[in-house]
Amino acid sequence: MKVAVLGAAGGIGQALALLLKTQLPSGSELSLYDIAPVTPGVAVDLSHIPTAVKIKGFSGEDARPALEGAEVVLISAGVARKPGMDRSDLFNVNAGIVRNLVQQIATTCPSACIGIITNPVNSTVAIAAEVLKKAGVYDKNKLFGVTTLDTLRANTFVAELKGKSPEEVEVSVIGGHSGVTILPLLSQIPGVSFSDSEVESLTRHIQDAGTEVVEAKAGGGSATLSMGQAAARLGLSLVNALQGKSGVVECSYVEGNGEYARFFAQPVLLGKNGIAEFKEIGHLSAFEKQALDAMLSVLHKDIELGEQFVNK
Ligand code: NAD
Ligand code: LMR
Repeated sequence: MKVAVLGAAGGIGQALALLLKTQLPSGSELSLYDIAPVTPGVAVDLSHIPTAVKIKGFSGEDARPALEGAEVVLISAGVARKPGMDRSDLFNVNAGIVRNLVQQIATTCPSACIGIITNPVNSTVAIAAEVLKKAGVYDKNKLFGVTTLDTLRANTFVAELKGKSPEEVEVSVIGGHSGVTILPLLSQIPGVSFSDSEVESLTRHIQDAGTEVVEAKAGGGSATLSMGQAAARLGLSLVNALQGKSGVVECSYVEGNGEYARFFAQPVLLGKNGIAEFKEIGHLSAFEKQALDAMLSVLHKDIELGEQFVNK
């Protein structure tokens, strides 16, 4: 199994590469790519960790050598937020970066599973889908917007509030990956109940958690280490499922049946060819139903922006 990380010299990329080097199954290959010239050095550094995962680094304008034979590609290339910015403010720079990298995936490893971390995820996933469609290689079962960090945050905050061990808590987070489009389904957590005010404040905390990190880093970027962990979780789930592990379920921003929006974060069962099943989002509380209705116009606009960027 070969995994490629694009944006590998960045804050997320380096954390993610470290976790993959130490956690990918023996015999895997890890390919690191970034425009930054330090990238081959990052790979040399990681290569001294004694695991049976081969690693190589590539830099420069051409991502294709890094992509040859890749079965999973995780993209964190692009700029991050500074205080006062929304994720949508990153569109102007990151849209072109994602388009360019996905074009290279389309010609070099068209059947790879692709995880898009680069913000604004609500729009960059639509860009990736349109680029792959234009190239005639789009498989909706293999394109993932990485929203795993929303699940990790929800698990952590719920466990803190309810005195549980974080490993015991698993929260489905649906919708998208910005502000009101992030909707944790707190009503579905087994054995845990919340007051109305707890639901409101926890939901807001999970929605605003990215901004909390951006403000705490005070101009030094956004979440990188927790995001590295989140991307490693999704990447390893994909690798395990592609290699035949059964019962692997993750929430991800994917093109499902379009009931709410063309792309929508929901639980998916992973299998040997990417998504094996789009799972139901299940029963929603009145609060969650209202939040779902309220997010849809934002989500539709974000998706349209991405689609138009490629098709204009
Ligand atoms: P960073 O600035 O630390 O790293 C980005 C890297 O991308 C840099 O090393 C840069 O050289 C590289 N890069 C830029 N243009 C490139 C190109 N054309 N080809 C290859 N590499 C290129 O930023 P970061 O903190 O790692 O964040 C990266 C992205 O991830 C941002 O857009 C951020 O908003 C997003 N992010 C998403 C989530 C999520 O939950 N999906 C969470 C955190 C951050
Ligand atoms: C996050 O949720 O931490 C990321 O999307 C980065 C950001 O800009 O908030």
